[in-house]
Amino acid sequence: MVTLLAKYVNSERGLIDRTIFYDKDIYQQELEQIFGRCWLLVGHESQVPNPNDFFAYYMGEDPILLTKDSKGKLHTFLNMCRHRGNRICRADAGNAPSFMCTYHGWTFATDGKLIGVPGYKEAYFEELDRSQWALVEARTETYKGLVFATWDQKAPKLIDYLGDFAWYMDTLLDRRSGGTELLGGAHKWTMNMNWKFGADNFSGDGYHTIITHGSTRYIGQNSASPTSVINSDKERVHVTLSNGHGWNGGFRGDRSEIPPGQVAGADAVLKQYYMDTYPEALRRLGSLRAQNFSFLPANIFPNSTFATMARNWHPRGPEKTEIWSYRIVDKEAPEEVKKILRVQQTHGFSPSGNVEQDDGNNFLQCTAAAKSPIGRKYPIVQSMGLGHEWKSELVPGLISNNIGEANQRSMYARWAEIMDAPSWDQIKIEPRTWAKE
Ligand code: FES
Ligand SMILES: [Fe+2]
Repeated sequence: MVTLLAKYVNSERGLIDRTIFYDKDIYQQELEQIFGRCWLLVGHESQVPNPNDFFAYYMGEDPILLTKDSKGKLHTFLNMCRHRGNRICRADAGNAPSFMCTYHGWTFATDGKLIGVPGYKEAYFEELDRSQWALVEARTETYKGLVFATWDQKAPKLIDYLGDFAWYMDTLLDRRSGGTELLGGAHKWTMNMNWKFGADNFSGDGYHTIITHGSTRYIGQNSASPTSVINSDKERVHVTLSNGHGWNGGFRGDRSEIPPGQVAGADAVLKQYYMDTYPEALRRLGSLRAQNFSFLPANIFPNSTFATMARNWHPRGPEKTEIWSYRIVDKEAPEEVKKILRVQQTHGFSPSGNVEQDDGNNFLQCTAAAKSPIGRKYPIVQSMGLGHEWKSELVPGLISNNIGEANQRSMYARWAEIMDAPSWDQIKIEPRTWAKE
């Protein structure tokens, strides 16, 4: 059998066939094999703090409801009435003890149970077994405030799925005892792009920042000069993690001062906040991770992206993606700090943000190239730094220069592996190994 791995993804040479960015059959297979089986970010516990709170989101193309039931347990349900399939909830978020379908009135509790059927006696003659028709439920697990779900009962535990990535995630999620929260609502927008271009960019594309975001240097958002970054800024590295995840960051291990970070350097109030909270972060994370308070882009396979934001690239077809993006902050940060971070997010990473717009057009053009009958005959090349990755005593994962494509190679190899595998029994999982710090 010719596998997708063999046919479209050549990890040894770093070549990707553009077919995987436009082919409709491959896209349908992605919905089943990737989005139907992997752990996907579905929200944050701060969005459903009270019993009977709910929040509407997506897993792939499927609308879902994240609920906290009346006893305080989290659930993720397909937002679909079991009768004909109408959505049982049209609101974005709120608090309600039950959801009544607006078609024929079937009513479901926040734990998913079917608790009301109009005509149950008179029309169904009490012969409908209501226990069979509860909402379709995904497995739900959390990691330090973030909520993830999977449709696949055979998927590994979330903590094993995250593997060593969780150690890096803590630099974003666990600096302070109160954890994190998402600020306000999401920025949502749709673009004519394949979802993988967004995921691979945030998993590790230090290469593009000085060119795509070159203008940020002129407005003081980025102090790096093209030469210093091209010469491989050793302050930053890419880390390729097991299970298809990628992280970008600034581990050095020999720094004596708090690094300025991408946000702290830009604003005196923020800088002071990070200075003030550094001792707490140091206690919680240890020096290596506490120093890296500026969490740089990362992607949890397949489509959950983090930086100053938490977001998903929701697929809407091979050539369309709907992005939902939230600012994530320390819950205990002062309101003044949260406000600055919210505004900063809107200025940078939102549909009107300068950095986001820089990126977006690239993703559109790359998707268009994959659709072109001529363009798609020629593969994407991701060979930069191939064979120049290294292991470190200091941190888990495979390290490589900040300018390199190791994380993309890893992400697409994982994509092919999961696309080819009939079930989770055939998919390799490397649980968390890192116990230091
Ligand atoms: S579709 Fe929901 S009650 Fe009929
Ligand atoms: Fe970018």
